[in-house]
Amino acid sequence: MKPLRTAGFHHITMVSTDAPRTLAFYGGLLGFDLVKKTVNFDDPGAYHLYFGRDGGRPGTILTFFEWAHARRGHWGVGGIHHLALGVATPEAQLKWKRRLMDAGVAVSGPIDRGYFTSLYFEDPDGQILEIATAGPGYAIDEAANALGETLVVPPERRLPGGRDEEAIQRLTHPEPVPVVTPDMRLDGIHHITGITDDLERAGDFYEEALGLRIVKKTFNQDDEKTKHYFWARYDGGDVAHHSALTLFGWDGSRYVSRPGAGQTHHIAFRAESREHQAAWRDHLLTLGADVTTVRDRTYFESIYFHAPDGLLVEIATDGPGFAIDEPSDSLGGALKLPEWLEGRRPDIERALVPLG
Ligand SMILES: [Fe+2]
Ligand SMILES: [Fe+2]
Repeated sequence: MKPLRTAGFHHITMVSTDAPRTLAFYGGLLGFDLVKKTVNFDDPGAYHLYFGRDGGRPGTILTFFEWAHARRGHWGVGGIHHLALGVATPEAQLKWKRRLMDAGVAVSGPIDRGYFTSLYFEDPDGQILEIATAGPGYAIDEAANALGETLVVPPERRLPGGRDEEAIQRLTHPEPVPVVTPDMRLDGIHHITGITDDLERAGDFYEEALGLRIVKKTFNQDDEKTKHYFWARYDGGDVAHHSALTLFGWDGSRYVSRPGAGQTHHIAFRAESREHQAAWRDHLLTLGADVTTVRDRTYFESIYFHAPDGLLVEIATDGPGFAIDEPSDSLGGALKLPEWLEGRRPDIERALVPLG
């Protein structure tokens, strides 16, 4: 058995109040593929939509519970502040700015974060999203084999007073962008940023529980009194794609996140097999985590536990994947139900608003 080090994120699950609107935004506007249309297995009156790349490759999967009457959530300690989606180049990022703004979405950026460049906007439920460039990466201010070893103070030009906000806001692509061109392809999860009330404790936990490693210790470049730490799957050379978890450190804060619409419900990391997941479960129990039994999610198997600051974390197996119950060339086409819900299909279909 190899050591228990996750390869990175498997998926992120967010809360929507309107499944057709979410489909139009993530599918139509952002260009993700709907890879599965099903219901919440713990609440079958509600849609569970899965978006992704390449038939739902781990690390690219964005999922939504539809809770039509959910009140608006809010970020805070134990919650996720934003989800960043990866794009290859700054040029393609500017095309996204133009495409989103032409669709009436308010966008800020591109802001130079040093390690990547970032655009910010919100989905229709208020989930904060970012589009971040692939490079230049974490080795711009530390050696590639010694990431996270020093506390990096960002240069003045990257802090609010040092940025030319008006010039940034004016920057956009000169032409309208009616279709998502291949260079604009959003490659799933670039990073996920949450908020903790104890960075040291959170770091110890993610390192011990998931085998993540610190890759950057710095400050929040919009709020320089707040520390901002990054963890990832890091082997002392490369930082794996789809693996960066970053946390703002609000030490001692009691501003706790509120679950609900526009908030992340949970984040999921990868286990490569059921055997690994079982070993992981034992390991988590020895750490004192409140880990659940294994749940069969049809497309993967899952265990859940809470991080010390309250965040709900899942470990999901890579397989069997989304082609287990429909052909890989028509994923997301039909409403799929697990066998034990098939008998209730007429009632379930009647209760769901068609996605069109
Ligand atoms: Fe970010
Ligand atoms: Fe999940």
